[in-house]
Amino acid sequence: MDNFSYYNPVKILFGKGMIAQLKKEIPLKSRVLVIYGGGSIRRNGVYDQVRDALTGYEWTEFAGIEANPHYETCMRAVEEINRSKISFLLAVGGGSVLDATKFIAAAACFKGDAWDILAKRAPVRKALPLACVMTLPATGSEMNSGAVITKASTQEKLAFNSPLVFPQFSVLDPETTYSLPDNQTANGIIDAFVHVCEQYLTYPVNAPIQDRYAEAILLTLVENGTKVLNAPHDYDLRANIMWTATMALNGLIAVGVPQDWATHMIGHEITAFHGLAHAETLAIVLPALARVMKENKKEKLLQMGERVFNINSGSTEEKIEQTIHAMETFFQSLGVRTKLSEYGLGEDIIEPIAKRFEERGWMLGEKQDITPDRVREILQIAL
Ligand code: NZQ
Ligand code: ZN
Repeated sequence: MDNFSYYNPVKILFGKGMIAQLKKEIPLKSRVLVIYGGGSIRRNGVYDQVRDALTGYEWTEFAGIEANPHYETCMRAVEEINRSKISFLLAVGGGSVLDATKFIAAAACFKGDAWDILAKRAPVRKALPLACVMTLPATGSEMNSGAVITKASTQEKLAFNSPLVFPQFSVLDPETTYSLPDNQTANGIIDAFVHVCEQYLTYPVNAPIQDRYAEAILLTLVENGTKVLNAPHDYDLRANIMWTATMALNGLIAVGVPQDWATHMIGHEITAFHGLAHAETLAIVLPALARVMKENKKEKLLQMGERVFNINSGSTEEKIEQTIHAMETFFQSLGVRTKLSEYGLGEDIIEPIAKRFEERGWMLGEKQDITPDRVREILQIAL
């Protein structure tokens, strides 16, 4: 096992009715900015619960954070913060709203061009305190210190990380997820599944605890994925999916093991150029990447096949292919398509994406051997 340091300060408030706890957690003298998206929280009653919980606070709101949140929108929120002397940010919504809030928290305190936080990895030295009410189990953003922001004007989608943007607390009430449309529920399950794969499907380093945690998360998603689509108001199913998604990307399964993240990096480019939802890109890229990189990932693919998908017979080659096929079948069983062509995308998308990796000099994968040429190969297989 590799050396590691692990730190996660996020307080989790989990369960029915927990939004009311906001008043115990946010310092009373705060001037709060409630940040949300396109209006789902107004339709499902979450906004009303937040408003009630904030009785007695000075607060205002900033709406209109889009899916794959835009830098441009975030900077408008920063202006609002300066105007209204805001001291605490509360994100209410999905991963996009929370990621935007993390960036806004850092940008509001940043001297210079805040895009540098993403494009030049400029260090974040200060950020406003923030917290969230998470309404979409998917990203794990509620218990991590990362965020992904898109600059609409240049079609760039980039991530940053800073311990200063860990939420102070996150409210996870599974009832808030009853209103999710099927495709968002499915996307969330796939996102969590692929987060685990990025931290597990690499090469073994004799870290059985991390492996078994990862497999538990994968199995829980596989066992409950279609069930929750068939019973969207089942509290226990929603609760289990919600906690599983948080566990998939709160850093715990990543400690001491190699990580990949190439599927995400390639996926972000597909979203940036062509607007596909985050999880749609992952469902396309992961199987293709696993096929191209199967030599590097051989042992873990076999282990995943055996322990998650019960694949025990055939040659090594056959078992690996069966495992990758089982992943694809799982994604498809949730109603998500796994090929670029199924979204009307063809060969012409490959070059601009590969060029970006060339320009940035990025070598991806757990062994940094996913070169731009390999990216081309992966996208070719994904057509
Ligand atoms: O905008 P509103 O009206 O709120 O609607 C949203 C949005 O249209 C809707 N929604 C959310 N909760 C709902 C709901 N609709 C009904 N009922 C509810 N309870 O769902 C739509 C999608 O929301 P979004 O926040 O965009 O989805 P998600 O949570 O999947 O977040 C995706 C973003 O997170 C980034 C992705 O790249 C993408 O930009 N990621 C962030 C990560 C992180 N911070 O650690 C890691 C991930 O790998 C990912 O890259
Ligand atoms: Zn993701």
